Amino acid sequence: MAVLQDQFNYYMKTKLTKILAKNLKRPISCLATYSPAIAKILDGNVDIILIGDSLGTTLYGMSNTQRVTIEMMKMHGKAVVKNIKKSLTIIDLPFKTYENKKRAELNVKNLLNYTQADLVKIEINKNKIPIIKHLVKKKFNIITHIGVTPQSYKDFKKIKVVGKNSEEQKKLIELALMSEEVGAKAILLECVTENTAKLISSLVSIPTIGIGASKYCDGQVLVFDDLINLNINFKKLKFVKSYLNFKGLAKKAVKEFNKEVKNRKFPNRKYSYL
Ligand code: KIV
Repeated sequence: MAVLQDQFNYYMKTKLTKILAKNLKRPISCLATYSPAIAKILDGNVDIILIGDSLGTTLYGMSNTQRVTIEMMKMHGKAVVKNIKKSLTIIDLPFKTYENKKRAELNVKNLLNYTQADLVKIEINKNKIPIIKHLVKKKFNIITHIGVTPQSYKDFKKIKVVGKNSEEQKKLIELALMSEEVGAKAILLECVTENTAKLISSLVSIPTIGIGASKYCDGQVLVFDDLINLNINFKKLKFVKSYLNFKGLAKKAVKEFNKEVKNRKFPNRKYSYL
């Protein structure tokens, strides 16, 4: 049994270090999803799959991510991870579930045991550094999320790019360096200016993964629903590139179905049990 556990630990460590490698020449790709069907499409086609707490806004139509619960993350996390064989998986720790070391440890343990995700992502500020240090000491794989941290916003309209002035830049660099020092495996940078992202990526020896943080990161992440133009909640942000207009295609299919039902063209014999 101990040999099996050792083999598993070794496998995990190599998978993690292979995928989460700092290399600006071969950037890491990551997409966020919450659905098993999408997870199957993504598996092996991107390096990392994130079960993000953006599910609150994207899937549940909430106006922010503050009401996302551990239970919601557990349900979606398990459904997604079960369908992934190749990609690395990261899951978000939701709002107000990591206010102190004890609570954070309990929730991370619970979330990882239940979902079997590989890493946990945590939105941080300077005060959360001792908590990250504690979790790393307990052998959990942690990614810190800095720059714009959506859990801090009730009103997403108030979100602004950070790292524009030298004070903000200094704070972000400090936070990135502290993340590395306490043992985070990577840093997610959200809505950070190009200059600041470039500086951070060159200063830390762990990978940076950006969303709205320029090409000067070791990896890039987007939300899958944005990638296919399915997000209906908010105005499309500058950093979002939609690679497919699923909304348009789906509307066309729905209209056709409706027409065929009305014309009694569907179901024909092909779709009936004779
Ligand atoms: O919750 C989420 O989807 C995120 C994004 C930054 C990708 O954290």
